Amino acid sequence: MFRQLNDSLPFDYRLLKQDLEGSIAWARAIGGAGVLTNEEVARLVDAMDGLLKEAAEKHDLIAGSFGRDEDVHSYVERRLIELVGPLGKKLHTGRSRNDQVATDVRLWTRSAIDERVVELREARRSLIDLAERERSTVMPGYTHLQRAQPILFAHWALAYQEMLERDAARLADCRRRVNVMPLGSAALAGTTYAIDRGALAKDLGFESASRNSLDATADRDFIAETLFCLAQTSVHLSRMAEDLILFMTQEYGFVEMADSVTSGSSLMPQKKNPDACELLRGKSGRMVGSLVSILTTMKGLPLAYNKDLQEDKEPLFEAMEQLSMCLRVVPRVLDGLKVRREVCREAALGGYSNATELADYLVGKGVAFRDAHDQVGRLVRLAIEKGCRLEGLKVEDMRAISPAVAEDVYSALSLEAGLARREVEGGTGPRAVAAAIRAARERL
Ligand code: ARG
Repeated sequence: MFRQLNDSLPFDYRLLKQDLEGSIAWARAIGGAGVLTNEEVARLVDAMDGLLKEAAEKHDLIAGSFGRDEDVHSYVERRLIELVGPLGKKLHTGRSRNDQVATDVRLWTRSAIDERVVELREARRSLIDLAERERSTVMPGYTHLQRAQPILFAHWALAYQEMLERDAARLADCRRRVNVMPLGSAALAGTTYAIDRGALAKDLGFESASRNSLDATADRDFIAETLFCLAQTSVHLSRMAEDLILFMTQEYGFVEMADSVTSGSSLMPQKKNPDACELLRGKSGRMVGSLVSILTTMKGLPLAYNKDLQEDKEPLFEAMEQLSMCLRVVPRVLDGLKVRREVCREAALGGYSNATELADYLVGKGVAFRDAHDQVGRLVRLAIEKGCRLEGLKVEDMRAISPAVAEDVYSALSLEAGLARREVEGGTGPRAVAAAIRAARERL
């Protein structure tokens, strides 16, 4: 039972490539410090190159060693000794699994971040394409889930592109703090061998070597920060998915989704369920869980390394894997999305979402905004009583409540007029949105 509890190979096998790359660089570094001869370094590097090749070709070979080796580091050491004999036992000179594992996880995280940024770019591309296609589609914008003011569908799509763009930038920034090399810290106090840490860091593509050996072996804030970035991204995807799920209901009817991202019901023949979007929403719970998991593990850990830190990997692996799937499904959902433009437009015309326009119109006629707000409130009530839109009221009826109203009120109440008045930078005016699409495409 202790073995089962203690072993990490069944999950840290994912670090095999990074462990070998780190060990190859380490062999060279201790060679440079005079611990190994050039010939010994060459033999070790050769053998590890072979293990790298083997790992690339036979993906699950290592699974055969679950239950045999404690972790990926002991697996590599055993294989190395099998290949080169007692020389294999020299590789670990001056190193501890503590600085080794921290290095491996940083290498792994760095490349996983790079992959997510590429996937994010593709998701952003699909949002910008959608904005382009729907650049003149008018829909209701909501607050409190109540129709508020008309917006362009493109403006909705670009809102999520902004969020994903920040997510990508956040990951890139976090990567700088991930990209620091712990090797040379040994178990906690620093290695006793005269290795050139700067050169070793460069060899492994790290920006720098860590400045404190206790910190480098014991902190995992780089994982927490990465997991925050992932959780935040998944929360953005979840909100987007929730919008789309609502938009696809018969009650809204704004969009249709491709069959490839929906499912039928095994019972009800008429059903088309937005499964992909529901999973985008559902998976975010696990990603928030991963973030909470690492923070909770770290809280109260005394310096330096404690075995609790072995628990850092599964949440990280899990969140990366799940978010990757989510990000890769986004273009499939969006590229296949059919927007029912007429339905969107009808909805934007309803719900008195041009009431603000009418108030602004009155302000233009010299009415104080607070009075205008009051009068329009009464006009809306009147229209509801009559079962018509604001623009369906007669001028005389409007004047009875709001004497400043004139014949030109109708043109002020059109959807196009409302949108055109929002050409402010960042607003939903058609020209502002067209410029935003162009700028977003350029940044991509
Ligand atoms: N498997 C371990 C981990 O993931 C490697 C480090 C073990 N260090 C130790 N002092 N027992 O954290």
